[in-house]
Amino acid sequence: MTEPPTNTKETTAMSGDTTQSAPAVPAGQTAATGQTAAPGQTAATSPTTTDGRAPALEVRSVSKYFGSVNALEDITLAVHAGEVTCVLGDNGAGKSTLIKILSGVHSPDKGEMLFEGEPVSFTGPREARARGIATVFQDLATVPLMSVWRNFFLGNEPTRGWGLFQHMDIKGAQQIMRAELAKMGIDLRDPNQTVGTLSGGERQAVAIARAVYFGAKVLILDEPTSALGVRQSGIVLKYVIQARSMGRAVIFITHNPHHAYPVGDRFVLLKRGRMLGAYAKSETSLEQLTSLMAGGAELEQLSHELQRASDPEMKEVAKELAAEAHTPA
Ligand SMILES: Nc1ncnc2c1ncn2[C@@H]1O[C@H](COP(=O)(O)OP(=O)(O)OP(=O)(O)O)[C@@H](O)[C@H]1O
Ligand SMILES: [Mg+2]
Repeated sequence: MTEPPTNTKETTAMSGDTTQSAPAVPAGQTAATGQTAAPGQTAATSPTTTDGRAPALEVRSVSKYFGSVNALEDITLAVHAGEVTCVLGDNGAGKSTLIKILSGVHSPDKGEMLFEGEPVSFTGPREARARGIATVFQDLATVPLMSVWRNFFLGNEPTRGWGLFQHMDIKGAQQIMRAELAKMGIDLRDPNQTVGTLSGGERQAVAIARAVYFGAKVLILDEPTSALGVRQSGIVLKYVIQARSMGRAVIFITHNPHHAYPVGDRFVLLKRGRMLGAYAKSETSLEQLTSLMAGGAELEQLSHELQRASDPEMKEVAKELAAEAHTPA
């Protein structure tokens, strides 16, 4: 494997850090309150792992409001190194707002955030990145008009020579990028081609490979598979698993329980800004996640409403919805 470079920019950014150490929390207690975990406390929100290490990233009772919209209300979540935490929820559930808080884009209105057990409050995404939190935003992951290899390095290009003779090592950079993308099963013929000419899946791959290469401890992927076909989704999911086996804490946001279940270790379900549930893999099943996501009761209600319509086509739709409400997965 190609060795990641030491990132001098990131080291500098961290030297201004003024955070304090968090008090240690005894295992079996909820860190937020110091009380013994309630029976409802699941492994998915548990602040400590079995090996006693602090989570890579944690939020406690976080809320975020946009005017009168409660985008998030009382969210508690801990993500751990070497695990994939899936955040599931419908449109407007608050998933992107949550990851924007974790990646320093928004600051929470209530609650606190901890990085490796220390309270943190990021002033912006640059500070979160300097801590090793890399976020792949679905739309803003790459710069379309820039070549693929420049996108991969984005200002962190390797250099050769010293002082006045220092210059960008273009050949070296292209070789590294090719090797890293090859690991994701992507064989790029021309590293100079612009990112805009790549497919959606290939673009995701460039953004994910970059985040992993530059040593992200926490890798956040916001709906990386939502615009992709089966094969490319498969490639992204394979990379999620690879990032986990490299010891990263991965946060994988998706609408799709079929993508989440096979790769996830923990599952957090959001609904209208609130936590609907949090489960370790052993505590749930694909069927349960699907039925929670589909909102079985809501589908049934919608089906009843449509059945009252006179249009025969609507009645057909109503039947299909009723069937879906009763047969999850
Ligand atoms: N910057 C903002 N200003 C005002 N309201 C916002 C802002 N960002 C999000 N919201 C609102 O907060 C709620 C949660 O939005 P969010 O984007 O987090 O949902 P989501 O789960 O990511 O949805 P999707 O699956 O559609 O991406 C929505 O009602 C949204 O309109
Ligand atoms: Mg979103």
